[in-house]
Amino acid sequence: MSDIETFYDYYGNLVKLSLQGMPFSSCPKHVWVVCHFHKQWLLTMHSRRGFEFPGGKVELNETAEDAAKREVFEETGGHVARLILVGQYEVSSRNEQIVKNIYYAEIDRIDLKNNYLETKGPVFISRLPEKVQADKRYSFLMKDRVLTSAIEAIRMHRLVQHRIENLTE
Ligand code: GTP
Repeated sequence: MSDIETFYDYYGNLVKLSLQGMPFSSCPKHVWVVCHFHKQWLLTMHSRRGFEFPGGKVELNETAEDAAKREVFEETGGHVARLILVGQYEVSSRNEQIVKNIYYAEIDRIDLKNNYLETKGPVFISRLPEKVQADKRYSFLMKDRVLTSAIEAIRMHRLVQHRIENLTE
């Protein structure tokens, strides 16, 4: 069994996070993709929630990897050149339990589009704020340990070519 971190999210929902494999579900219904493009983080501006890494639901007859690539393109116009599984987390809210795969994606091209669905399109961030919890521009999805632990794992595995420490304030 892999190591599992347990904590509460921004809304007080219980989150279980694993950065090894997919211990909660072999067919997760949600994906979240930490995107990197030319030495910058690539996020999307969600119309209600604010800045967040792209992601969403896995459609019927779609793999989680295909959903990750589709969501990145739909929400940012980005093309995924390399996709790596970072981990998986489970959120238990009052009504339901969801399981989400976390990926790291290298983006090699961005197409400008007229429509980014429920988002307002790509946002490029060279430095993620240290105090993202207090930053009203950011979505609640960016405000728990999933973000910090996933980025730490990406850094440890040297998935980004340059020093990722330089990307945070
Ligand atoms: P949309 O269809 O995107 O509007 O979402 P939804 O409101 O139907 O929610 P979804 O099925 O995506 O998730 C259900 C609940 O799980 C949400 O209301 C959140 O409270 C929670 N949730 C979903 N994704 C995340 C996540 O990445 N992190 C955290 N902490 N909670 C999440």
